[in-house]
Amino acid sequence: MKLFVISLFVLAACGDDGTKLSIEELQDLATCIECHATHYQEWSGSMHAYASEDPVFVAMNARGQRDTNGALGDFCVNCHAPMAVRLGLTDGTNFDPAALPAAAKGVTCYFCHSTVDVTDTHNNPLVLADDQTMRGGIANPVGNSAHHSKDDALLDSDDPLNQSRACGACHDVVVPEHVNGIPGGLAIERTFAEWKETIFATDPTPGISLTCGDCHMRSTTDVVADAPGLDVPIRPNGRHSHMFPGIDLALTPFPEMAAQRAAVQMDLDPSIGVIGTAPAASNRPTGGICVLPGGELTVRIDNLSSGHMWPSGAAHDRRTWLEVIAYDANDNVVFSTGVVPERTDPEAIADPNLVGFWDRTSRTDGMPSHFFWDIATIDSQLLRPAVTLDRNDPRFDHSITSTFNVIGLSIERIETRVLVRPLPFETLNDLVSSGDLDPAILAAVPTLEVGGARKTWRRSTALPNTGCNPYP
Ligand code: HEC
Ligand code: HEC
Ligand code: HEC
Ligand code: HEC
Ligand code: HEC
Repeated sequence: MKLFVISLFVLAACGDDGTKLSIEELQDLATCIECHATHYQEWSGSMHAYASEDPVFVAMNARGQRDTNGALGDFCVNCHAPMAVRLGLTDGTNFDPAALPAAAKGVTCYFCHSTVDVTDTHNNPLVLADDQTMRGGIANPVGNSAHHSKDDALLDSDDPLNQSRACGACHDVVVPEHVNGIPGGLAIERTFAEWKETIFATDPTPGISLTCGDCHMRSTTDVVADAPGLDVPIRPNGRHSHMFPGIDLALTPFPEMAAQRAAVQMDLDPSIGVIGTAPAASNRPTGGICVLPGGELTVRIDNLSSGHMWPSGAAHDRRTWLEVIAYDANDNVVFSTGVVPERTDPEAIADPNLVGFWDRTSRTDGMPSHFFWDIATIDSQLLRPAVTLDRNDPRFDHSITSTFNVIGLSIERIETRVLVRPLPFETLNDLVSSGDLDPAILAAVPTLEVGGARKTWRRSTALPNTGCNPYP
């Protein structure tokens, strides 16, 4: 009895009187807009909002149901429209986002903010509380009439107990054995597993220890709830961005497209780079772009700010490649690689020198695979992240140096770029020819450029002893 009185008092003290909106009302995003309009606006343009709207997703799921005779079931929609599955609105086989209410499309506010437990490492094992409590990273939330609030380590990016589990377990995809017949399943997307090996996961030093949320939800100082009559404080670094930029962009008209495009570019530009000068105590060779006396052109690229491989996640669908163009004194092209026309996949241009970073996937018959459910083997060729701070550890240098034969060529200037496409045209064309995808979508697939890899080498400024232009 005494305990009961005390807890009532504590709740009353923060204005949390217990009469809250129903669970149904909390599942409805329109409810959140009233007090969290900025969070809603940012989220509305995110790939979490687009996850079940994405025409490529819808096409791939439909094709997968046919190709596997329905064995795919709700495997895909369980991550791309998790509320639709939890509410029993789809079994995945006849999935059509147009038939769903907003509360069941994409990865919603309610889905993330009701998470109380994560029972495995992959395939969305998130457990929802369904208890009118919204969980976040605010320790002393002001009470409100809509929901109870709770600071929870699973969502609070800075909590040492966070360990990236809530984001991570939805970002690692293992195709179940009954879908592709591979015993134990194949780990197709591995962002969480990759992160666990990095210094961001293994080194507890503040500033080095970084969860998914630390890098992907930048914080600013602001109020986090805003509506007439609400008396809430300004919270230092209390507001976290809900734009979740990565590589994918909406391929059909969608909210906040320009803002998403800009946010993606901002994260992409410094994520990798053409780099040179090694740290003082390191024994790494000088890098950047070099033309060596023996007739070799080398370019060193490194993963600089990703907390996992680059690219990561849908690395089987990403196409990212290095373009190198060398000119003579008269500005004639004397060597080039990775010059890929629009609407053409980099692997389709028969370029023997092509340097591309993505997961090469094959079917059991050895042919290139286009879809999750027929991938049998993965040859992963990605840029590795930092896994040690020990300079004597051979893994300390995780850069990749590409070497090209330019014997006998007179080179005055070299330009490098790294380009990124979210999807391969071969896969999209396959979906078009099976009648699952509108061919008009192909024109919307963007080619992005990584700012950090756009570099120029000039003979006039190269170091005379090495032939290198070692960019810092
Ligand atoms: C009537 C206004 C109101 C509505 C409607 C509302 N909230 Fe809140 N919410 C608040 C207030 C006030 C806070 C506390 C802000 C503070 O203390 O700085 C809050 C805090 C939160 C927190 C942080 C909890 C913590 O302790 O970390 C989350 C998450 C949250 N709301 C999510 C939602 C979601 C999702 C919806 C829609 C289902 C929603 N809110 C609807 C007013 C509201
Ligand atoms: C319910 C499963 C789920 C959870 C939980 C989840 N995500 Fe996602 N996330 C997705 C899906 C599905 C997509 C891809 C949507 C698409 O591109 O069509 C995505 C996309 C993203 C993207 C954009 C990727 C790109 O290339 O465009 C980022 C960044 C991201 N999530 C970060 C996070 C972070 C950080 C968290 C934790 C706070 C998180 N996610 C939690 C399922 C989830
Ligand atoms: C992919 C999961 C995910 C989705 C979807 C999501 N949030 Fe959040 N949200 C988080 C996480 C994680 C935090 C805590 C960040 C921290 O404290 O480090 C957070 C924090 C918040 C907070 C507390 C203030 C802040 O900015 O930290 C509010 C309020 C909030 N979210 C509202 C919303 C609303 C409204 C929506 C839908 C329009 C939404 N969220 C969608 C993961 C999500
Ligand atoms: C140290 C910072 C950092 C950490 C920690 C981090 N990321 Fe990233 N992440 C990045 C950067 C930088 C990029 C590349 C920028 C881009 O894609 O625009 C990226 C890209 C991504 C992408 C798009 C990948 C692709 O190639 O399609 C996803 C999805 C993602 N991160 C999810 C996560 C998840 C989930 C976690 C936690 C398990 C995490 N990230 C941890 C910095 C980080
Ligand atoms: C465990 C959760 C999960 C499952 C299961 C899942 N996805 Fe995804 N999906 C994601 C995440 C997370 C991303 C974003 C990854 C990134 O940006 O690198 C994504 C991205 C995508 C994308 C956009 C990027 C791309 O690869 O072209 C498509 C399309 C997609 N998924 C289709 C599917 C299909 C079809 C299935 C079922 C065969 C499926 N997904 C199953 C989590 C999942």
